[in-house]
Amino acid sequence: MKKTLALALAVVMSLGLLAGCGGKETKDPANNGGSSSGGSSQSQQGGGSDASDPTIPEGGTVGVCIYKFDDAFMTTYRNSLQEILESKGYKVTVVDGNNDQAKQNEQINTFITQKVDALIINPVMTSAADQIIDTVKNAGIPTVLINREPTAEQMSAYDKLVYVGCNAAQSGTFQGELILETANQGDINGDGVINYIMIQGDPENIDAQLRTEYSVKALTDAGKEVKQLNLTRGDWDRNRGQEIAANDLAQFGDQIEVIFCNNDDMAIGALQAIKQAGRTVNKDIYLVGVDALAAALEEVKNGNMTGTVLNDAVGQATAAVAEMEKLLGGATYASGEQSVYVDYVKVTPENVGDFMK
Ligand code: GAL
Repeated sequence: MKKTLALALAVVMSLGLLAGCGGKETKDPANNGGSSSGGSSQSQQGGGSDASDPTIPEGGTVGVCIYKFDDAFMTTYRNSLQEILESKGYKVTVVDGNNDQAKQNEQINTFITQKVDALIINPVMTSAADQIIDTVKNAGIPTVLINREPTAEQMSAYDKLVYVGCNAAQSGTFQGELILETANQGDINGDGVINYIMIQGDPENIDAQLRTEYSVKALTDAGKEVKQLNLTRGDWDRNRGQEIAANDLAQFGDQIEVIFCNNDDMAIGALQAIKQAGRTVNKDIYLVGVDALAAALEEVKNGNMTGTVLNDAVGQATAAVAEMEKLLGGATYASGEQSVYVDYVKVTPENVGDFMK
């Protein structure tokens, strides 16, 4: 019974995805900064070949590897993944890589020894993608990579592999647009130059690279002159965000007009430093993040953050499970069609209520 239900679901999902797909070209995130409108729809690339004889294992087992549990956004994401998988009857084990690639490699090997039916992996290091892909390919385990995108070439080594994530350039563009939508378009002192600091995530991560680049590009594309006072890596961490912002506020003082943070957790840390420095967001400084963590939505609503960008954890978890089921059903992916993107959405004080539970 469960098997029939799962099969029906898989077929309905495949049809839905195909209907919403419209084409199979794969976007190059670096060449696509997103549009200003946003939207909650999923843009699907790839999609896999149709499974002619899907056989979803009853009570199938899924191993989920998360790069580290102590990451605010990935906590929401993994909880969502677990909930969706369990609600569909899968036996799920979620493991913490502790930000240690060697440890994660062992965890993947353990799942392989246990003969899990599928793997969902959030790699610790993007640079480890080749090794991970090689390992799961040799074991013949259908695998969904999430959150840290390898190159299309790396993924093409294994046709039972798909990546689910977002186009990080789009989130950067939205951050820049949030600044352009403020009363003085980010130029608080009216001197014709937007002075900013950038608090970066883990620079090895493409999300950090593209958000850093595209947030500023949105300003310069709009003809604005910008000046970067400082750029510091904060590794997605709230305490680091606070320390970095405190140091920069002490060093550059009123010169700082905008604080770009690659994610919300660092922005919430930066907000503490802003308050301690006696500055006021949206009056004498602007502050933007990405993720739409519950705490950040609260701050946007209260006017303590200029805005954020929804990094749709539930949407990505849903898509990851849908892709996993397609793989379990026998689907394979052609080279260049192995990435599935979920849209980011810009969050402003006007629409923040739509995102609060
Ligand atoms: C990003 C997210 C960050 C952090 C990172 C981990 O997409 O915005 O908050 O979770 O992934 O790779």
